[in-house]
Amino acid sequence: MALYLVTGGAGFIGSALVRELLRRGEQVRVVDNFLTGKPENLSEVLHRIEFQEVDLSDLERLRPALAGVDYVLHQAALPSVPRSVTDPVTSNQMNIDATLNLLVAARDAGVKRVVYAASSSAYGDTPTLPKLESMPSNPISPYAITKLVGEMYAKVFTQTYGLETVSLRYFNIFGPRQDPTSPYSGVLSLFITSLLQGKQPTIFGDGEQSRDFTFIDNAVQANLLACKAPQVVGKVLNVATGERQTLNKTFATLRRIIGADVEPIYAAPRPGDILHSQADITQARQHLGYEPTVLFEEGLEKTVAWYRANMKALFDGHR
Ligand code: UD1
Repeated sequence: MALYLVTGGAGFIGSALVRELLRRGEQVRVVDNFLTGKPENLSEVLHRIEFQEVDLSDLERLRPALAGVDYVLHQAALPSVPRSVTDPVTSNQMNIDATLNLLVAARDAGVKRVVYAASSSAYGDTPTLPKLESMPSNPISPYAITKLVGEMYAKVFTQTYGLETVSLRYFNIFGPRQDPTSPYSGVLSLFITSLLQGKQPTIFGDGEQSRDFTFIDNAVQANLLACKAPQVVGKVLNVATGERQTLNKTFATLRRIIGADVEPIYAAPRPGDILHSQADITQARQHLGYEPTVLFEEGLEKTVAWYRANMKALFDGHR
């Protein structure tokens, strides 16, 4: 049994990792500052994990959380492209400064490996699809810069200090527990919960932009493989499905699944937005043995079912 530290373990992706690690009989420690994470995401498993409310900006308070840890799954971050456009300084602190502290603490504690949650936003708006890890990065938002710098730090910590790191470039992860209550929430959580409430969601731009929407189980699988795969140290790997969906088509599919008769509202495109995003996942297949197990439409169905069952709890106190 190994000890895993999940940073941001009260968040959408972090808490999914925690549940899967526990299912596999591993030991789990979580740090979270509850800035975007929610205690409810861990309530069923709190008695089975060690929890520390720590902000990664405080290196000295963070250090003890790394004691005895074998693997770190570093999910803590302030997500959202538009949030970073509004407030780049906070995104920089929560993503770059926090990641640097985490890497220093992990290095000094002698952890075996750090798996870093990187982002497809690093590719920017370059026209070539699908995106290969060997393509140059070209961030077009502060958020994308912060996530790319985290990757660079991870790689440099491997080269300079011998700390094993792997960066997983997530492509628009979605699924149960993604928080739909903020204007900065992921688009699918907003579409689904609006449709379930009979409200009109907003589509920024003409809706023909596309994303490689990736169901959460696939990201969990990639993280757990990345902890132990022998040939991935210092690498950056795409985590995605290898397909892409436009927002218009996705909206139509959701309307059908939910049975809602609602039209979207079209609004001006969002600054910092990328038009198209789709991954080549050959590297993850080869080096991790990764294979997406839940594809887009099945993922949507599972996600809709979860929001249906949890709408009341999610929106009590909101809106
Ligand atoms: C970006 C990253 C993603 C990362 C996420 C973190 C890319 C390609 N993806 O996601 O890997 O996990 O940041 O925050 O850079 N939209 C609407 N209506 C809404 C909300 C959004 O039309 O109410 C549109 C956006 O304008 C965008 C698309 O939906 O075109 C996806 O937006 P969002 O879910 O916020 O994710 P990205 O910014 O693509």
